[in-house]
Amino acid sequence: MAVLEDNAWTDLRQLCSSDYGTWGVEKKMYHPSLCRAADGSWRLVFQVNDRSPLFAAAYSRDLVTWRPQDYPRVSSPQCLKPVVQSAGNAFQVCYQSADGAVHRVNADAEFRHFIGDEVVNADARLWQRDTVIIRGEQRIGQIFSISDAELQVVRQDARLQAQKGALTGERMHDDAQKLSIPSVINATLTVLPQQEKTISDKLIGIFFEDISYAADGGLYAELIQNRDFEYSAKDHRGWNATTAWHSCRPIEIDTKHPLHPNNPHYAILALDTLWNEGWDGIAVEKGKKYDFSMFVFAGGQKQDFLIQLVGQQGQVLAQSKLRTRASDWQQFSTVLTAKASDEKARLAIIPLKAAHVGIDMISLFPQETFMNRKNGLRKDLAQVIADLHPKFVRFPGGCMSHGQGLENIYHWNHTVGPLESRVPDFNIWNYHQTRGLGFFEYFQFCEDIGAEPLPVLAAGVPCQNSANNAEGIGGQQGGIPMTDMPAYIDEICHLIEWANGDPATSEWARMRAAAGHPKPFNLKYLGLGNEDIISTVFEERYEMLCKPIRERYPDIKICGTVGPFHSPSADYMEGWDFTKKHPDLQYMVDEHYYESTGWFMHNRDYYDHYDRSAAKVYLGEWAASTNVKRPNVETALAEALYLTDIERNGDVVEMTSYAPMLSKDGHSNWNPDMIYFSNTHIRTTPAYEIQRLFSVYGGDRYISSEFKVQSSKLDVDLSHRVGASVVRNSKTGKCYLKLVNALPATLNISVEGITLPATVKCQQFTGAIDDQKAKAVEIETSEPTTLPPYTFRVIEL
Ligand code: AHR
Repeated sequence: MAVLEDNAWTDLRQLCSSDYGTWGVEKKMYHPSLCRAADGSWRLVFQVNDRSPLFAAAYSRDLVTWRPQDYPRVSSPQCLKPVVQSAGNAFQVCYQSADGAVHRVNADAEFRHFIGDEVVNADARLWQRDTVIIRGEQRIGQIFSISDAELQVVRQDARLQAQKGALTGERMHDDAQKLSIPSVINATLTVLPQQEKTISDKLIGIFFEDISYAADGGLYAELIQNRDFEYSAKDHRGWNATTAWHSCRPIEIDTKHPLHPNNPHYAILALDTLWNEGWDGIAVEKGKKYDFSMFVFAGGQKQDFLIQLVGQQGQVLAQSKLRTRASDWQQFSTVLTAKASDEKARLAIIPLKAAHVGIDMISLFPQETFMNRKNGLRKDLAQVIADLHPKFVRFPGGCMSHGQGLENIYHWNHTVGPLESRVPDFNIWNYHQTRGLGFFEYFQFCEDIGAEPLPVLAAGVPCQNSANNAEGIGGQQGGIPMTDMPAYIDEICHLIEWANGDPATSEWARMRAAAGHPKPFNLKYLGLGNEDIISTVFEERYEMLCKPIRERYPDIKICGTVGPFHSPSADYMEGWDFTKKHPDLQYMVDEHYYESTGWFMHNRDYYDHYDRSAAKVYLGEWAASTNVKRPNVETALAEALYLTDIERNGDVVEMTSYAPMLSKDGHSNWNPDMIYFSNTHIRTTPAYEIQRLFSVYGGDRYISSEFKVQSSKLDVDLSHRVGASVVRNSKTGKCYLKLVNALPATLNISVEGITLPATVKCQQFTGAIDDQKAKAVEIETSEPTTLPPYTFRVIEL
């Protein structure tokens, strides 16, 4: 928007930007056309590209806050130069198709529903534009008159955003140079034991998404890569059914007689040895046992194989003979015991007789998995996660839940049952999902670590950043067609049956029992949607899903979404608006924000003003991240400060989970992450330490306190760099005081209202501000409330 003042046009600010389709390729606005309604509100349409049968439609009351965009579909394969004009109480959108014809679509007053698409003789003046000169440059657009009051709203918002931007850009790491503060700062903490309130006992959980090789090649303990020969170029450019497999001659792949229709490809083995490279090699440990298995189809012939694990120097680390005779597909297995270790071994399948046999689902698992589960999880990695004592596990994503386009939406029922019958798919993060780690395994893991399962499924729309499909429709792609919604609703209800039903009466529960879990999993929470655009397409489907679930399963707590960003983003505003207008639909909504340390320091009161009678909050994805590739002491302290505020608001915030959790070295899709790992090593981060301390030393009662930094002689406000909270665990009776000093100075706190023991044991996290390796340690001190610079401390009272 530009303003004409003193006879000159000046740029003011960008009002709205395209949210259509995938990053990098789309998200562009062409030929915007704005129109003012009789009530003063605004309607905007624009062309998104020159190859999609849709236009973008947006709505604003004040030019500052825009409702999330809708992308109405038109009849022409291209929708060029859409223009909007008001027509009584409603609107008309005219666009040009590639052949030059003009089409007209009618829109309702709310600009949510678009009907009709007819060829018309439109007046060419509709496309006339105004030309102005801004700083010597000719610019084309539309000129409108607005009142001073309206202009003030835009200006004020521009100023506010600039101010917020400056605070958000603040960093701790240059405080020592920037802030002239003494080496010791005094503060007073007044604890008010009489002022107690109940808070959530599930504040800290985990976000598990198969991103950065978190599942296949990561937590899922399978050691063979592409075990099912189902890799394809859809997963990753250049991949095919033989990726990760090697032989001295081209590997023959067939699909004529598949082991299962969901798993059509298999390899034909003649006399050549077949090698698998594993996931960056196979880490083999001396003395450990490995379960090998594969399906063989040999038309009744006998075939023997030598199965070997071979080290980097060609030495045989383990071997076993596998005798097979299979008329149809049959599974054979053997155990390999390693007589030496190697971090990057390979698997060799050596046919001992000349014969053509089909082989598929070739699998190698360490016998030692977490809790020794078959088809289990990598023991060391699962243990590091269990050590967080998460109160819940959200799975399977993130963006992976709603998927890259309608075809890639995660269907939970594709991930249960025998491994060979599960439906593999490409992963939105540019690799492959075997679904070996499927819903049964996720639920089992939750039970094993005492965490509530929080499955998150698509709310009838795929990821808004999806690329264009074959019809040229990107983003939410119009959502699951309405005709398919009843089946999708059933699919979600079946999950509840599968998890909680009685095998005596429910076919879905019988599947769970057959998989080895006759007792219910006791599912309580269900997430619908992942940071979606809160478009009309989304809202309609979300409501359609929630209503029958609420009716049939009133005890299930539904968690909705309010988009990918915090206040005052369009999706957040619309998401909360919708949530408050439909209080019966959901128990809680999922908020996401990855922000700078400055943002966290300056938004400490974010939840203080939330409506306590509205839905609860699940802060499902968050991390202090700007400017750092890896979590360090600075980001960890920002998170610790914010978590003291979350505890204070634990009556409205029910759950939080840092994101993402896992990242495999060499395969990272995202930074920073909480835990980095390779096949043999795990590196937890400062973010992990903070999450663990808040989780282990959490409570369900919050005790009020007042924290005052004695900074009267200082010209800077340090209050946003210090934090305190007191919680009590009513089950154990234990009380914890958490203190955060994010200053480059010692913080000397005198505590009033409670008496501290003379000497106490504390958990202490501290380090240089850029340190990425800092760990919490237990210390014993007679000065528990004197905190060195950059320190987080938990004191048991
Ligand atoms: O956590 C990584 C990604 O961030 C998630 O998949 C998505 O929900 C968010 O954009």
